[in-house]
Amino acid sequence: MSRPTVARIHLDNLRHNFRLARERAAPSRTIAVVKADGYGHGIGRVARALAAETDLYAVACLEEAIALREAGLTQPVLLLQGVHEARDLGVCEAQNFTVVVHDPQQLAWLESGKARPQIWLKVNTGMNRLGFAPGDLETTRDRLAQVGVAVTGAMTHFACADDEHSESTARQTEVFDQATAGLGAITRSVANSAAHFRSGQALFDRTRPGIMLYGGSPMLGCHGPALGLRAVMTLESRLIATRELAPGDAVGYGETWRACRPTRMGMVCIGYGDGYPRHAVNGTPMWIRGTRVPLIGRVSMDMLAVDLSDVPGAAVGDTVELWGENIPVDEVAVCAGTISYELLTGVTQRVPRIEAGNQ
Ligand SMILES: Cc1ncc(COP(=O)(O)O)c(C=O)c1O
Repeated sequence: MSRPTVARIHLDNLRHNFRLARERAAPSRTIAVVKADGYGHGIGRVARALAAETDLYAVACLEEAIALREAGLTQPVLLLQGVHEARDLGVCEAQNFTVVVHDPQQLAWLESGKARPQIWLKVNTGMNRLGFAPGDLETTRDRLAQVGVAVTGAMTHFACADDEHSESTARQTEVFDQATAGLGAITRSVANSAAHFRSGQALFDRTRPGIMLYGGSPMLGCHGPALGLRAVMTLESRLIATRELAPGDAVGYGETWRACRPTRMGMVCIGYGDGYPRHAVNGTPMWIRGTRVPLIGRVSMDMLAVDLSDVPGAAVGDTVELWGENIPVDEVAVCAGTISYELLTGVTQRVPRIEAGNQ
């Protein structure tokens, strides 16, 4: 393939990050969250790389769970949003997919149907996205028991675990603890990646790390490496042109950047059509020949411009790291007014994923 824009996937780093999550979670056990195509890294690839490390995966929906079976994974899978159609419950039972039930409609499908998959109940402890009210949990469990459906787990999701100063997480934890206390010996799960880094946080039986597995920081104002995480994706391209600019020359659509000194600039073969964020501001860093260099001008669909003035030797063909080991994806995300989750899951299918070590 001749286009030089690729996402290199470092599976050793994925395993390193998973082990870190597992150590931080112990004695709780971890679930590998591999939804959204393994946060953009390739769901089959990341699941296989973690197959010897985890005994349970979590995905958003049935299609993703089936993708895991098609990739040869046999472990149980947790469907975090449950099913969207009654008939999917039978597939879940047959495939050993554990179904989260968060809504009366899903409850009614179980009551009126014959399928008996494993069920976790979702509790709304304050995020107000999905889940039963804490006070409805035991009656929901009883209704399911009457039709022979066993509830084997309960979960909730935190709204502000990334914010060390927020008190919401402690409040949500307390609500969850009380709401599930009467459910007997079931598996309880609350923790996203951020919860692994909160001191004193109760992690219950199972944690659900996502972004930290891929090297992104789950904590506000902090980059992954500062937490001991390693970048799993290196987004990389090459310089395809260089040019000398005179003071006053503008670059790119809208002429949003103008040279104020003689400037050597380069064009990099990557743009928003590859998932690089169009909203990245002037100055967003990238890495060429061991030096950080700034983005200049607006990101185009297939290319973007960089100021090479500090790298006089830079030449067409040089490798450019957009994010990865040297440029934390979290830093690019801040420059684009977003989060690492959106950048990683937004790398488009035009960009081949290449496992590091496999050219
Ligand atoms: C229900 C649920 N659990 C766990 C996760 C993993 O969260 P994070 O990627 O912040 O670790 C997510 C991610 O959105 C989620 O929706």
